[in-house]
Amino acid sequence: MENKYLEDTFGLKGKVAAVVGGSGVLGGSVALALARAGARVAIIYNRGKEAAAEIVKQIEAFGGEAITAQADGRVKSNLEKAKDEIVSKWKRVDILVNAPGVNSTTPILEITEEEWEKIISVNLKGMFFACQVFGKHMIDAKVKGSIINFSSVSSEIPLSKVFTYAISKAGVNNMTRFLAREWAQYGVRVNAVMPGFFPAEQNQKILTEERRKSIFAHTPMARYGEAEELNGAFIWLASNNASSFVTGTIIPVDGGFTAMTI
Ligand SMILES: NC(=O)c1ccc[n+]([C@@H]2O[C@H](COP(=O)([O-])OP(=O)(O)OC[C@H]3O[C@@H](n4cnc5c(N)ncnc54)[C@H](O)[C@@H]3O)[C@@H](O)[C@H]2O)c1
Repeated sequence: MENKYLEDTFGLKGKVAAVVGGSGVLGGSVALALARAGARVAIIYNRGKEAAAEIVKQIEAFGGEAITAQADGRVKSNLEKAKDEIVSKWKRVDILVNAPGVNSTTPILEITEEEWEKIISVNLKGMFFACQVFGKHMIDAKVKGSIINFSSVSSEIPLSKVFTYAISKAGVNNMTRFLAREWAQYGVRVNAVMPGFFPAEQNQKILTEERRKSIFAHTPMARYGEAEELNGAFIWLASNNASSFVTGTIIPVDGGFTAMTI
């Protein structure tokens, strides 16, 4: 950054960020943005090895530092291992972004136990254990950390077609506020960003033409978001200077979707 005021306020130089689900569309964009703002970034992926490597390449191309670590977010020991790999390389983790997510449009009466468990386990259980593993590290190492979870506009009102997903995200909101309250005493801030509708992998099947029309009709800006439009919120929340008094918030980035009614 060229402007010293902006650098001091939003710059992340010297910080280490871990992005769980960093191989995905939104997690990948946030990982790049944190690196652009100066952080060293670890991309934690489950299956997207190539996508994770591609993001590392893009970060290195502008002189940033990045590594990958493999972990199934549902398995606590995997997350511990990824955290240990990052700490052994860079000594600490200051920022955790929690971006794993899976979704489904199965009608309520047809949802199986298997599907319910998969969605709740990736979106809620996995996010919690990532908060626990990296939060414990921050607390033990006395890092003034920032944890940012991906919520969703489905988390506070019953958005059609995404029943289990919406419930998992409602849990993410409550968990975020709970951890914010518990960990403020250690200087660890916990917030969430609540995106509106952004075309990605997990929602490809959901964003049909019919649904697009109703989403646009219910969004004051009448369009989808683009991944980069989330970056400012993440950089702000990641920076201890820019958002030093902000914890327990759920920030909508949704083109006005949650402000809209008829
Ligand atoms: N795209 C949107 O419109 C939208 C809206 C609101 C919230 N979100 C949330 O944003 C986050 C990122 O999703 P996205 O839209 O970029 O989708 P995406 O499908 O591109 O990314 C999801 C990521 O989750 C990872 N993942 C899935 N299962 C995992 C597991 N077991 N362990 C670790 N990682 C796992 C995938 O590998 C992928 O990298 C998710 O939490 C999603 O719920 C997205």
